[in-house]
Amino acid sequence: MHIEKHPVLGRQLHKPVTIYFNDQPYQAYTQQSVAAALMANGIKKLGVSRKLVQSRGLFCSRGRCCSCYMTIDGEDHVRSCLTEVEEGMRIYPNMDDPEVRREIDED
Ligand code: FES
Repeated sequence: MHIEKHPVLGRQLHKPVTIYFNDQPYQAYTQQSVAAALMANGIKKLGVSRKLVQSRGLFCSRGRCCSCYMTIDGEDHVRSCLTEVEEGMRIYPNMDDPEVRREIDED
């Protein structure tokens, strides 16, 4: 559920955009964070924890806890609470460790 008009802050919804979560389209509004847009669409599970493989969701909502990591437009481990939605954004839950690329010295 989106808050259309807040009693103190006034009109809250800006331009509508379409985002894709697990390849399904959802409506969001510019200036919303990815996490807020997903919550407004009823999606609360943003991934699973690394060690115990338990559901993870929004926790601090200010970029401190890393609970909201998601894969956004092909980039792993993006904090969805700090990332604003964009038209056509592709979002996937964080289900695994990132692929770490490194160059190995061959001496
Ligand atoms: S919810 Fe804590 S960093 Fe995003």
